[in-house]
Amino acid sequence: MDISIVGASGYAGGELLRLLLDHPHVRVKQATSEQYAGQPVYFLHPNLRGRTDLRFVRLADLEPCDVLFIALPHGLVAPRIKGFASLAERLIDLSADFRLRNPADYPRWYGWEHPAPEWLPRFVYGLPEFHREELRSARYASGVGCNATVVNLALWPLYRAGVVERAVVEVKVGSSEGGADPTPASHHPERCHAVRSYAPAGHRHLAELIQELTVDGQSPEIYLSITSVELVRGALATAHCFLTDDLSEREVWQLYRRAYEGEPFIRLVKTTRGIYRYPEPKILTGSNYCDIGFAQESGTRRLVVIAAIDNLMKGAAGTAVQTMNLMCGFPETTGLEFPGLHPI
Ligand SMILES: NC(=O)c1ccc[n+]([C@@H]2O[C@H](COP(=O)([O-])OP(=O)(O)OC[C@H]3O[C@@H](n4cnc5c(N)ncnc54)[C@H](OP(=O)(O)O)[C@@H]3O)[C@@H](O)[C@H]2O)c1
Repeated sequence: MDISIVGASGYAGGELLRLLLDHPHVRVKQATSEQYAGQPVYFLHPNLRGRTDLRFVRLADLEPCDVLFIALPHGLVAPRIKGFASLAERLIDLSADFRLRNPADYPRWYGWEHPAPEWLPRFVYGLPEFHREELRSARYASGVGCNATVVNLALWPLYRAGVVERAVVEVKVGSSEGGADPTPASHHPERCHAVRSYAPAGHRHLAELIQELTVDGQSPEIYLSITSVELVRGALATAHCFLTDDLSEREVWQLYRRAYEGEPFIRLVKTTRGIYRYPEPKILTGSNYCDIGFAQESGTRRLVVIAAIDNLMKGAAGTAVQTMNLMCGFPETTGLEFPGLHPI
């Protein structure tokens, strides 16, 4: 199958290139960049030097393909969706433009009216662990918010079982979450060594948590804060869950095992000794895993769930390739087996 990537000069696009150039069932046909059209892709993604002769092309020069991945900043895809859809049988859009089902969520969380609301129901939210069967027959899939993904995966077994009264979550994130375009906040002297409250309240990914963790029409009571930390890749969620019942450690593990039995990219972290007792994003670098563990506060109903991902993999490109595998009928883990590095 021929696939092309729009926005391939960015961080998510670069990661898609890395994964798809090695994927045994696809050929990367085109990769777009307006700024770097004509340049070899390794000019911006030096890890790909010697792996491909592909050069960036402009959006206007895109040709038809089988699967089109779009990795543009949010707000740029929805106005052009008809044009993109005319180019490919299947689309996977990593931006936020088609992640939310309710058009009214766009003015609320993104500050703009959705220009193509009739397309929203055609997209499946591209998180395989939640929407596997729908994705198998989908033509259009969204990507996922990286912070939303680490929290959704951390909390789903508990919400599914109806045992959470409310959850207060902090996600610590690396700088690549902000994309390749520099800003004053990402300038090295400002960002380096910083532990900075980025969005203590009101982060947009809360919309994806509310959407995906609503069970039987019951919206979750959930609070989200995002903190920037000294990492390039990685997101670590610490979720303080106040439970409706007293659950034993065994019962909590059963909820998680049942929810994620057979999931190829969810690992439950359960060790009582050593330094890797809890999930840690550093060792997930480049891998598509989400590691999940927890700790209980004895004598209280506070359960602390801890989850980690690589934001560019399970939080973006890795999940998008997993989604493509489902949509195209390839084995779900194809091209995603890399286990990460240790030490790194
Ligand atoms: N970074 C993450 O951790 C992450 C996680 C989950 C989802 N995502 C989503 O993935 C998408 C891409 O994120 P990113 O971090 O890869 O961003 P990025 O590094 O800033 O890359 C953006 C890409 O879009 C292109 N672009 C920007 N403005 C354009 C325009 N007006 N017309 C055509 N192309 C344009 C850029 O190409 P040029 O070379 O032409 O500038 C670049 O290839 C976003 O929607 C983001 O929400 C990112």
